[in-house]
Amino acid sequence: MKRRVLFVLLILAAIAAQADGKLEIFSWWAGDEGPALEALIKQYTTLYPTVQVINSTVTGGSGVNARAVLKTRMLGGDPPDSFQVHAGQELIGTWVVAERMENLTSLFTSEGWKTKFPKGLIDLLSAKGGIWSVPVNIHRSNVMWYNPARLKEWGVTAPKSWDEFLATCKTLQGKGVQAPLSLGENWTQQHLWESVALGVLGPENYAALWTGKLKFTDPRAVKVWETFGKVLEYTNKDAAGLSWQQATDRMVKGESAFNIMGDWAAGYMTTTLKLKPGEGYGWAASPGTAGTFMMLSDSFGLPKGIKNRTAAVNWLKLLGSRQGQDIFNPLKGSIAARLDSDLNKYNAYLQAAAKDWKANKIVGSLVHGAVAPESFMSQFGTVMEIYLGGKNPTAAANAAQAIATQVGIGK
Ligand code: GAL
Repeated sequence: MKRRVLFVLLILAAIAAQADGKLEIFSWWAGDEGPALEALIKQYTTLYPTVQVINSTVTGGSGVNARAVLKTRMLGGDPPDSFQVHAGQELIGTWVVAERMENLTSLFTSEGWKTKFPKGLIDLLSAKGGIWSVPVNIHRSNVMWYNPARLKEWGVTAPKSWDEFLATCKTLQGKGVQAPLSLGENWTQQHLWESVALGVLGPENYAALWTGKLKFTDPRAVKVWETFGKVLEYTNKDAAGLSWQQATDRMVKGESAFNIMGDWAAGYMTTTLKLKPGEGYGWAASPGTAGTFMMLSDSFGLPKGIKNRTAAVNWLKLLGSRQGQDIFNPLKGSIAARLDSDLNKYNAYLQAAAKDWKANKIVGSLVHGAVAPESFMSQFGTVMEIYLGGKNPTAAANAAQAIATQVGIGK
């Protein structure tokens, strides 16, 4: 009898420990990137006041540093309670195949999410008979930002094709704008590359790169590097030392005319810099990509063996809820992943993005985890270095194809 009472007491204590206790959320949304996540955490602590949320962030755009720290922690048996990861192969090809994640299918069923998110997105999150993370947003990769007042002053408009872009940049240089396109560190160069690839190849051939139907060594794919090289001639020489925010700042200040970056830049310009979309900054699809939406989605998963599972599941429930998504996304510069968000809460840029998301062709981002195995994505930075070192399109194309073959793209 005594043992029974003790057992019940132990269970109660365990439940109590879970209902409060700590919840560690891991992401790369630090500093300037923080406000949307902080708003969501605030809502979480309103709903679960006894849980102490630890907001663990590792600075570095697109998760370049966070992924390495996460790897050490996961392999060391010290997983955070929930972590940010892109929907797609970035999670499935790593921690899902390593059997370190919980299958969230029953959560999707109990929360009614299977019909609340687009089917294509659920497919992206699914593999091996499971659904592996909860999507909080949809970001667009192929956006070109510009400074409307400066463009007017310089007498140019946002170019619609890469040829037009090169001509416009030449004109701008003639007017003393040294670097018409602002650019940042390595991953932002890869980010620019995927926009050039989409513009040069078109959506079908771009998508064919990731199924292996179009080889990187195909002359059409080599042409992407050729165009990319011409575009680079109009960028700032100190790119390698700039974060994505610093590159965006150059355009905002009018030192550069354009910046190609995902729409977290809209979040930064609206939420942090307090600029009004359409006034403080303008936008267009990156050259040659109108009618196509290159998507990516931030999501959170549930690692096995965490300390506070109840609190983590409640976190996922909030992330996937309409309320949670409509708190997070207007500040983040992304649209909701859910189909039923309240668009009145979103600014003019985001309303336009939501419209395109519905009407455009959809392709996935390489750099932000949606289309290629993680092993390809993580080695693409080396391909970029090879290109930047020799400016040889064929060498870069060969290197990309070698990695594609090695990681099994098209098999
Ligand atoms: C992306 C991520 C965005 C944003 C961006 C810059 O990979 O999906 O939410 O954080 O990196 O860091």
